[in-house]
Amino acid sequence: MKSSTAKASAHPNIALIKYWGNSDDALRLPANDSLSITLGALTTTTTVTYDAALKSDQFTLNHVVQTDPDTARVSAHLDLIRHLAHEQRRAHVESVNSFPAGAGIASSASGFAALTVAACAAAGLTLDSTALSRLARRGSGSAARSMLGGFVQLHAGSDDALCFAEQLADIHHWPLRDLIVVSDRSHKLTGSTGGHHSAPSSPLQAARVSDAARRIRVCREAIQERDFHKLAAIAELDSNLMHAIMFTSTPPLLYWNATTIHAMQAVTDLRSKGYEVLYTVDAGPNVHCICSPSDEETVLKVLQNLPGVKDVLQSGVGGPPRVL
Ligand code: DP6
Repeated sequence: MKSSTAKASAHPNIALIKYWGNSDDALRLPANDSLSITLGALTTTTTVTYDAALKSDQFTLNHVVQTDPDTARVSAHLDLIRHLAHEQRRAHVESVNSFPAGAGIASSASGFAALTVAACAAAGLTLDSTALSRLARRGSGSAARSMLGGFVQLHAGSDDALCFAEQLADIHHWPLRDLIVVSDRSHKLTGSTGGHHSAPSSPLQAARVSDAARRIRVCREAIQERDFHKLAAIAELDSNLMHAIMFTSTPPLLYWNATTIHAMQAVTDLRSKGYEVLYTVDAGPNVHCICSPSDEETVLKVLQNLPGVKDVLQSGVGGPPRVL
């Protein structure tokens, strides 16, 4: 066969309990378990076409031809799938995001989830969601969680087999909303992969990791009980802990800008007035404000009026990847 093709879409996710630092960089085994919400309104759509005429893999993102190191990372991921599927051909990979890349909205999560599903489908490889999540993790740690919808836990595991994502509650369990305050669309200077390497240099990392199982337990309870205030306390603590590691690593990492702080303070102020909203910040300046649907309009108006806000993206809880 000269060529075979498949197209898949996947959503990014926002971690309420985050991982930062790997116990094994090559296998991307995270230092601690993490727990996220899949974000249904944001999507990466990827087409993979294996083509016998190609000499090397070709990767376009948002219609722009990519070079190394991004193409090499995609190619290394395809090699894992080609090996499993006994597929020899190189591939065209065309990926399109519905949201700005490189600004803390985890395009690597939806990107590697969609790539994994499309590349397996095009190679005729049928895997269950656990195996797909292990495979997606090898491309980007957080992509393992995008393999499932709803509320998802990534088990850190001590080897490849034990490190996979599991759904804790489905898309209908708790219809939370995420309002993402975008204040910078440019590509971040230090990506997550570099940040994971420097995490152990922070003297605070051991304390963050050793308390992670407790934070996961409290977060799981809050989700089961739909207890917003419990969720807010544990998610904000977890986000602040991760940024404390970043600030105290060598070299230090500071992803925030002035608008990041305005948004965090606005969320704290709204919650003191009784609104159900919490903040969490990934490896970028943009702030994810998770809120109840009934408070969404009020929270949106406050966030849109903060200085430096370029956009506020809105999403609900999303489902798993789909072959299109
Ligand atoms: C801050 O999954 O982006 O979003 O494996 O290098 O692609 P790579 O890392 P990545 O790291 C995620 C870091 C985080 C926290 C989280 O999502 O748990």
